[in-house]
Amino acid sequence: MEVLEAIRTRRSIRRYKTIPVDDKTIELVLEAARWAPSWANSQCWRFIVVRDSNIKTELSNTLIAGNRGADAVRNAPVVIVACAEPGKSGYLGGKTVTDKGDYWYMFDVALAMQNLALAAHSLGLGTVYIGSFDAKRVASILEVPQGFCVVSMTPLGYPDQEPEVRPRKELSQIVSYDKYGY
Ligand SMILES: Cc1cc2nc3c(=O)[nH]c(=O)nc-3n(C[C@H](O)[C@H](O)[C@H](O)COP(=O)(O)O)c2cc1C
Repeated sequence: MEVLEAIRTRRSIRRYKTIPVDDKTIELVLEAARWAPSWANSQCWRFIVVRDSNIKTELSNTLIAGNRGADAVRNAPVVIVACAEPGKSGYLGGKTVTDKGDYWYMFDVALAMQNLALAAHSLGLGTVYIGSFDAKRVASILEVPQGFCVVSMTPLGYPDQEPEVRPRKELSQIVSYDKYGY
């Protein structure tokens, strides 16, 4: 699948078939994440591949009430949890150098996760970013060590739905030229 087509046709998938995802395919999408750019190539991301049903249920229970992704996290064959090591991205010579402080790791992880989502889609798999959950509880469930934090997660599996296209703002609403023009 062409990159532009993958970008245009990816949708958040919240219902998955029970068909398992083989290890080779999981590795392919992780490989896409690995090639994402990052601050000074710091690659502060870490990924945890969860296939154990009990752990997936525990993860699902950390989602904030009403989160539409809860069933997907519980039922998808795989959940990939993205962690990061703060204190690396956004730093030069051991100091933060922008007004974004230590938050650049969010940017790096997002780029890796988008690579992963697009690669998954190009292989016929679905994903949905999950951001609304109790990250400290997830860290405890997955035994994430001190010095790392949990950023995001996504179910991964074969889609069992074809969701409606969510609308996007027009370019004219979000792009201006030469100066900020809104
Ligand atoms: C940072 C971020 C956090 C998100 N968190 C959740 C979430 O917790 N639960 C959920 O069901 N969807 C979540 N989403 C998915 C968005 O709702 C979805 O991407 C958006 O509605 C556009 O739909 P589309 O992905 O199908 O184009 C999240 C997306 C992003 C980028």
